[in-house]
Amino acid sequence: MFSIFKSTPTLRQLIPDNYIDIHSHLLYGIDDGAKTLEDTKGIINSMKELGFKQAIATPHTTPLVWDNTKEGIISKHNEFWGIAKEHAELVSLRTASEYLMDESFLNRMEQEKLLCIDKNYVLVEMSYMNPPIQLLDILYELRKQGYQIVLAHPERYNFYHNNTDMYQKLKKAGCLFQMNLLSVTGYYGAHVLQAANFLLKENLIDFTGSDIHHNRHIAGFDAKVKVRDVKNFEKAIANNIIFENKL
Ligand SMILES: [Fe+2]
Repeated sequence: MFSIFKSTPTLRQLIPDNYIDIHSHLLYGIDDGAKTLEDTKGIINSMKELGFKQAIATPHTTPLVWDNTKEGIISKHNEFWGIAKEHAELVSLRTASEYLMDESFLNRMEQEKLLCIDKNYVLVEMSYMNPPIQLLDILYELRKQGYQIVLAHPERYNFYHNNTDMYQKLKKAGCLFQMNLLSVTGYYGAHVLQAANFLLKENLIDFTGSDIHHNRHIAGFDAKVKVRDVKNFEKAIANNIIFENKL
């Protein structure tokens, strides 16, 4: 707990040894995360060193940008297990996707079962520019189809920073909130840190994720934690245990 630290802890110090990461871009060559096999191995080594026990890779499914398919993601995952089993085992690597909620997403949902981070939990994000026009329809449809919606990094959507009522509305629409670990250090800027402060204070954060893409993100774990409500942050970190792969 926070109280054992004489001075402000670094993010690294707050990561427990059994951390289950539900958001990362460590599968190489299929999005803006790891580029090479060596990158993937390096990220896994660093995760292990940070205390991550398990990790779920969540490559982007972003139409026209990272046009991943369910089959493509699964085959990349299997390829990695085939050539780097030791590394995959180190974090008992599983794979899902981070789906962009855009105008084509309703269609995708109709046509295929989405890749879930665990059970029926699906990780979704929005554009950083603006929410999709069909946002509430998409959330309704996801719930109707039996998914538990995990909204990635709500603190990073600038358009909600001065419209914080929307966070409550998203919760009412069935969203669980996954905050990025690095947000508490100010890595994404002061506004995101401020939003993280607000969301933790209001007890709105359900889970956390590393959203690691590259080594700069790893280095960010050595920065000091700047949020006020460290207790709620630690609670959100601990909540990830529900995603543990017990096999
Ligand atoms: Fe991500």
